[in-house]
Amino acid sequence: MSTVIRNGTIVTADLSWKADVLIEGGRIAAIGEGLVGDEVLDASGCYVMPGGIDPHTHLEMPFMGTYSADDFESGTRAALAGGTTMVVDFALPSPGQGLMDALQMWDNKSGRAHCDYSFHMAVTWWGEQVFDEMAAVVDRGITSFKHFMAYKGALMVNDDELFASFRRVGDLGGIALVHAENGDVVAELSARLLAEGNVGPEAHAYSRPPQVEGEATNRAIMVADMAGVPLYVVHVSCEDSHEAIRRARSQGKRVWGEPLIQHLTLDESEYFHPDWDHAARRVMSPPFRNKLHQDSLWAGLQSGSLSVVATDHCAFTTEQKRYGVGDFTRIPNGTGGLEDRMPMLWTHGVATGRLTPNEFVAVTSTNIAKILGMYPKKGAVLVGSDADLVVWDPEAEKTISAGSQQSAIDYNVFEGQKVKGLPRFTLTRGVVAVTEGKLDSREGHGEFVARAPRGTVNRALSAWKELTAPRPVERSGIPASGV
Ligand code: URP
Ligand code: ZN
Ligand code: ZN
Ligand code: ZN
Repeated sequence: MSTVIRNGTIVTADLSWKADVLIEGGRIAAIGEGLVGDEVLDASGCYVMPGGIDPHTHLEMPFMGTYSADDFESGTRAALAGGTTMVVDFALPSPGQGLMDALQMWDNKSGRAHCDYSFHMAVTWWGEQVFDEMAAVVDRGITSFKHFMAYKGALMVNDDELFASFRRVGDLGGIALVHAENGDVVAELSARLLAEGNVGPEAHAYSRPPQVEGEATNRAIMVADMAGVPLYVVHVSCEDSHEAIRRARSQGKRVWGEPLIQHLTLDESEYFHPDWDHAARRVMSPPFRNKLHQDSLWAGLQSGSLSVVATDHCAFTTEQKRYGVGDFTRIPNGTGGLEDRMPMLWTHGVATGRLTPNEFVAVTSTNIAKILGMYPKKGAVLVGSDADLVVWDPEAEKTISAGSQQSAIDYNVFEGQKVKGLPRFTLTRGVVAVTEGKLDSREGHGEFVARAPRGTVNRALSAWKELTAPRPVERSGIPASGV
């Protein structure tokens, strides 16, 4: 069976033009005028764009004594409902656990996915086993390795481990990811705040000021540069870390920054809300910041110093958040956003004139497909690409509400926000999963996307490393030693 999307305007990261799209066997078979197919989807008044890719999710993640509430079933359903057709989740070995063992656990969970997915591998401890297994992980098509510079005593790695792991990732032709916050300083500030009686969710924000993020981002950039590995900084929330990334990029370093839709649109005042639940539901790391930081993030997307908008979807119910009553350090860190990222970014980005529709496609899909080595299978509207597409209606409106969301949790951090710009259709490998807000997707439809190491950026970096590698100077007339 073939499907044709008619009467729409195709919008990619670099072009917009009117054409039909023919889909066969889950892929784009033709692009042009007057195409014919068995099933016809009308895209009048709509943009036909690559489906969103969210490269930062934590589905059914064991964290802070519990599991994040959205699993691959509800999480990918939420993704599709909002026009996102692929997620990249973090396989997370517990300290001492082997990487392939952790991968097996994530393979088991992800079988329920409604849309395609891939994994990053987290390096949560260091040793010979981790070093060795990293090669097997790359052979499995997982080329990105995440490092937590925060969560001391749990997931955090120290600088010697960071440097060793970064070098290994560089040698394997992969890319290093960091959660950049100075975990030692956060631990000290948290202990002091608690001792002083600052136990509420607002103290979470005080415990993680922008400086801890700026410092760690600078440190990760320098360590990555010395290790010769491309670096991707997740959840960039403030000017301090954006400035470090901007500076590194202007120096030619291979660094990318990822702001989240939450940090772009919600601010720190959420933590001072009189309702404990309201504030705790918004506890995540890094915390939401003030308007100056938000403006910096938007400017980064406009200027190209920041490359990708993600969600870090890590949803906990109100009941789970209440583990932290009386001690903010026990509030499970994380917020949702998978269903809302695309409509929120369109509303606050494109509809306000901050971003062009093409830039919207770049930061929600194409850039990350290129960075992670899966372009043009994903992130493109090209003949041969997977038909992961969203037919976007810029006039469709709704009010975000937990009552109508796909996510399994009992609230939404964007509750009450009016958005304009929604999917008319979302297609996952050619199958229509969403029609005007109505979901008709299939559990288990999602497939794992393997990625190739040694992409063009890695090869460029390797050429440069080879040229500038330390070499002994050839000398004649060596003086006699021991004089
Ligand atoms: O608070 C957050 N961001 N929770 C998820 C884990 C992480 O740090 O990304
Ligand atoms: Zn993080
Ligand atoms: Zn509230
Ligand atoms: Zn995360």
